[in-house]
Formats: sequence, structure tokens, C-alpha cells
Amino acid sequence: MGKFIIEGQRSLGGKVRINGAKNSVLKLMVAALLGQGTFSLENVPQITDVNTMIGVLRALGVQVQFQAPRMQLSVSSVQGSTPQELVKAMRASIQVMGPLLARLGHVEVAKPGGCAIGRRPLDIHLSGFQQMGASIESEGDVFVARAPRLHGADISFRYPSVGATENIMMAATLAKGRTVIRNAAREPEIVDIQDFLNQMGARIKGAGTPVITIEGVHELGCTDFTVIPDRIEAGTYLLAFLITGGSGTLENVIPEHIGPLLDLVQGMGAHLEVQERAVEILSPAKLRPFSLSTNPYPGFPTDLQPQMVAVATQAHGQSELVEAVFDKRFGYTAELKKLGAHIDSKEQAVVVHGPTHLKANTLLAGDLRGGAALVLAALAAGGSTTIEGVDHIDRGYESMETRLLRLGASVKRIAN
Ligand code: EPZ
Repeated sequence: MGKFIIEGQRSLGGKVRINGAKNSVLKLMVAALLGQGTFSLENVPQITDVNTMIGVLRALGVQVQFQAPRMQLSVSSVQGSTPQELVKAMRASIQVMGPLLARLGHVEVAKPGGCAIGRRPLDIHLSGFQQMGASIESEGDVFVARAPRLHGADISFRYPSVGATENIMMAATLAKGRTVIRNAAREPEIVDIQDFLNQMGARIKGAGTPVITIEGVHELGCTDFTVIPDRIEAGTYLLAFLITGGSGTLENVIPEHIGPLLDLVQGMGAHLEVQERAVEILSPAKLRPFSLSTNPYPGFPTDLQPQMVAVATQAHGQSELVEAVFDKRFGYTAELKKLGAHIDSKEQAVVVHGPTHLKANTLLAGDLRGGAALVLAALAAGGSTTIEGVDHIDRGYESMETRLLRLGASVKRIAN
């Protein structure tokens, strides 16, 4: 596992170009399993989750060539049993279930293991497949699902799960008849997947709203596609400018995808210039405290909650953050406290008392976004902070140290 050594208290400045969205591209790669032919994806980030998904697809019989930011996928025949160790390494691998069940009529998927951010059950995915006619058995560490041909169904989700919306939407493209998903997740990545599948020949309407309708077709082809910008990467760099009192520009960003964050940082005193595909930020001399609760899109994203807690340590006053999506997403706060942060933890909320002069220490990243929060805090801290476990950060941020370095930070990666 590598480490970052960060010398803090330097204001960041300059321009950063946002990469393609991790949480879209992983599902686009999986959606290709429904099709036939050669796909070309543009704006694909060089992150380790993408490499893991390449491993999954190759094991299923897909040919993959990847030189960031371009990926080519050649799909002809595929097989229906996924490599256990890769599924355990990355929960997003569970998304192969819908496409393979629809295409092959059977699939065996290893049960994804525990997770640092909460329980993450799969009941909404599995119940959706069952309503479409699948039988699902749990055999030891593996789910075995069978359905000679899935049929359409009117499915109401008890919660707008992102992964379940995508899984059922993909499965329904090849099912017999019409599927309606009610209380569907509305994230921009779901719209991206709808657009991709429709370009392959699917008939989907409604992504981005709570009701998605899919008319099943007999087969799907291939397409070329450009992945949307990563709104969480964009938010993380915006907050890197803010926590260091810097000013800079995010390029290749869709401002409406980070609307709640932009409102919040303006409320904290930042000045923003918002253009069609760019956001410029000027930090205030003094950050105001804030309150937020995470929520499914269009609410405030849970994937930016840890980074906001890091920023709250520099705000003048008491900030309160409620986590309403995952049940265990404050683990990283124990590491922030090692820098001197004053954080009171309740079960699903934290109160942060700022401002604090954070002081360098050695920290351990335990998950992707918690790791990003540690990096932000280290950028604001006095002295030289070591962050271990940066492989978690590499799952979702391309070359974070190089990009921060270009913005004026002092960050060194030590491989070990
Ligand atoms: C996606 O996870 C993202 N991952 C997550 O990104 C993100 O935090 C999350 O959506 C919410 O926005 C990918 O896209 C690869 P959910 P997903 O199903 O699909 C509960 C990151 O850092 N639930 O919407 O797994 C679940 O336990 C990450 O990039 C059930 O109860 O999220 C959770 O509390 C991590 N039963 C809530 O719903 C189910 O069957 C939201 O989960 C499914 C989910």
C-alpha cells in the first residue's frame, strides 16, 4: 500500500480538468454485456476500480483495450459465472447480475463482502429480479439466479437505490414486455446509462425522474459514448480550493450536477463564477459554518459528506452534518481527530466545532471518500501529514497527488 506525504497550509490555485465519472463508467462497461460488437468509451478515468471491472469483464469473455481516456470493448459471446475475488474486491461487480441474467437466463455472482461505509444489503435488486420472473438461490457465498426469459413488471422500490435502479433497468432492456420502475434513483449517472443503452438499441424513458419505463427488445448492438464528468471528483477539488483558502477553476464539470454543493459553499462565503462547463471559486477570508443532510439525488451527495466534515474543521462556528444514506459513514472522523479536529459524533450525525489549527500526524485511509477527506484536512494542517492506505483513494481519483501538485500543493507519493 502506498502513502502520501502532504506538507499543508499552502493555498491552491489554477485549473483542474475533471475526469469521467467512476460511478457511470463502471456501469457502462457492464451494460456492454447486453450487446454485441465493438464499443468505444471516451473520458474513462485511470482509476483502480476501472481496472478491477476490466478484470471482471475479461473473465466473462469480453475483450478490453484501455489506454486512458479511451477504452474499447469487444463483445460477442459471454459466460455467466463471475470471479469471486473481484466481486468481493468491488461491490459494483454485482451490477453484472442484471445484464447476464437477461442475456443468458442464468448467472452466478459471489456475494459482495462487508463494507466500510455500512451494511449495504441487496434486497431491492433481488426482489426486482424476482418480480421479473427470476428464481434466486443463495448457495454458500454465491447467488444463483435463473430465468429462461425475464418478463416485464411494475416494480416499486422501497428506497431509490442507485445500484438496484441500474441493475433492473439493464435487465429490463431484454425482458419480454414493459417494465416500470417506481421510486427509481435519479442520479445523473442513471441518465448516462439510459442514454448509452438507448444508443445500443434499448427503449428506455424517464431516467432522471422517479419513474423509468423500459420496453423490452430482442437484442442490443454497440455504440460509441463519452462518459459524463465525475461530480464527486469535481466537488472534492472545489473543496480542496476552499479548505486551503485558495481560488481556482474546475473545467469539464456540469454545474447542475453539483447544485447543492455550490449553494452550500456560497452560503459559507465563497464567491463562484458558474459557466456552462466550468466553475470558478474564490475562497472567503473566513468560512461560515453550515448544516447539511445527505440524501439521494438531487439532495446533497453522501459521497461528499466526509470531505465536507474536513472543511467544517476550518469554518468559524459549529457545523452539523447528518448522514441519511449509509448507516456507518463516519469511520474516518477518528483519523481527523488525530489532527486535532473537534468532532462530536452521534449515531447518524456529527457536530464539528471550528476553526481548528490542525496539526500533522500519521493517518490511515479506510475507504475512498473518507480517504479524500483526510487529504483535504492534511492540505489545511500545519506540518507534514502521512496518509497510509492510499490504494483506497486510487480506486476513485486518478493521480490525485500529481493533480494537487499542479495546483500548488506539496504532495509526495511513496510506494511500498
Ligand atoms: C452507489 O452505490 C455508488 N456506487 C456509491 O458510491 C454511492 O455512495 C451510492 O450509490 C449512493 O449515491 C456506485 O455507483 C458504484 P445504493 P450503491 O444502492 O448503488 C441501501 C463512492 O464512494 N440499499 O443507492 O450501492 C444501502 O444499504 C460510492 O463512489 C438497501 O437497503 O448505493 C444504502 O444504505 C460508495 N437495499 C442505500 O440503500 C438494496 O438492495 C443507498 O444504496 C440496495 C441498497
